[in-house]
Amino acid sequence: MANKGTIRFGLLGAGLVAQFHAKAIQAAAGCELVAVADPIAERVKLMVDRFGCGGCSLLDELLADETIDVINVLTPNHLHCDATLAAAKAGKHVLVEKPPAMSLADVDRMIAACDRAGVKLGVVLNCRVRKAVQAMKSAMAEGRFGKLLRADANMKWYRTTEYYLSDGWRSSRRSGAGVTVQHAFHYIDLLLYLMGPAARVQARMTNAAHPQVQLEDTLAAFIDFSNGSEGTVVASTALWPGMDVRIELYGEAGTAIMVGERMDTWVFRDERPGDEEIRSLGRGVVATGATGPAALDFADHQVVIEGMAAAVRDDVDPIVSAGSARVTLEAVLAMYQSAASGQAVELPVENEELIWQ
Ligand SMILES: NC(=O)c1ccc[n+]([C@@H]2O[C@H](COP(=O)([O-])OP(=O)(O)OC[C@H]3O[C@@H](n4cnc5c(N)ncnc54)[C@H](O)[C@@H]3O)[C@@H](O)[C@H]2O)c1
Repeated sequence: MANKGTIRFGLLGAGLVAQFHAKAIQAAAGCELVAVADPIAERVKLMVDRFGCGGCSLLDELLADETIDVINVLTPNHLHCDATLAAAKAGKHVLVEKPPAMSLADVDRMIAACDRAGVKLGVVLNCRVRKAVQAMKSAMAEGRFGKLLRADANMKWYRTTEYYLSDGWRSSRRSGAGVTVQHAFHYIDLLLYLMGPAARVQARMTNAAHPQVQLEDTLAAFIDFSNGSEGTVVASTALWPGMDVRIELYGEAGTAIMVGERMDTWVFRDERPGDEEIRSLGRGVVATGATGPAALDFADHQVVIEGMAAAVRDDVDPIVSAGSARVTLEAVLAMYQSAASGQAVELPVENEELIWQ
């Protein structure tokens, strides 16, 4: 399917994140939203009315539509794998929301199926494309931090009990509803994207403010990175009213801190001409997801969608491959193992099939 003009998308799932995908596709150059599928007819109707696309209830109907190039898998987390396998079998490219699946074995099956079918598999880890994150990534590649000392992610958010009870999967461990694999996934991913993979993790998980649900709403974790430095993740949906996420990188030669999407601190021993401009990145952004799930902009999703369209059109890799998202899933799974055992866990993860029992 290389060298096509317009790339056509079909959305599987018409819930919260589908709104962002639909807006992003319609804003993206050379992209078209063809149809959305969801078993809940009212949700499909809302999207059909709002976005002027087609609507149906089943994945099979999207797969039978020969005009659709890419299926965006926007279902609850435990359903990502089967949908991806079916889409690949039908010859469709797949853009799957995070986490790509609930086990490494499933991610491996998804990668193998897409390889076999000759279709692209991209993962939506939209925080990676933020300008402040890309500036950090470039400075890291240029060695501007010098010896890396530590990296910390701080996500002090708030979600109501009603949010957790609004849909069956939002309070189900097996569906991937805990704060670690659901909300903090983005920020654990940023640490690993910037610092490289984890070698060892130690985690503690608690339920601080949502006694009606059997989930962790709070995570505190140590990460030993393979590069020899260390980091921490504190993530919660229990902390009203919800504060912007902080991503902090420290090296012998520099410190960079992103708050929300804003570059809060950007200081290097070798100040360079472009640094003042980098300090202004993300200043206008106010909707950062801290206070509620709908408090987000779709700009990052648009970049991811455009990257997926380019991957299909020009036969290049999607912005986030399933292989690189797998690195984050492995660290997250190790955190669940560590919280359950009270011990530090070395990677690679073993016996993952026991985690969601
Ligand atoms: N990247 C981000 O910033 C971001 C933000 C929110 C959610 N997400 C991810 O998006 C995914 C969906 O989250 P959400 O908040 O939109 O959930 P949601 O519950 O609002 O929507 C999921 C939809 O999937 C539908 N669905 C369930 N089974 C289906 C099936 N077999 N076929 C078709 N549709 C089916 C449900 O009816 C529901 O409408 C999750 O993986 C979540 O982690 C990502």
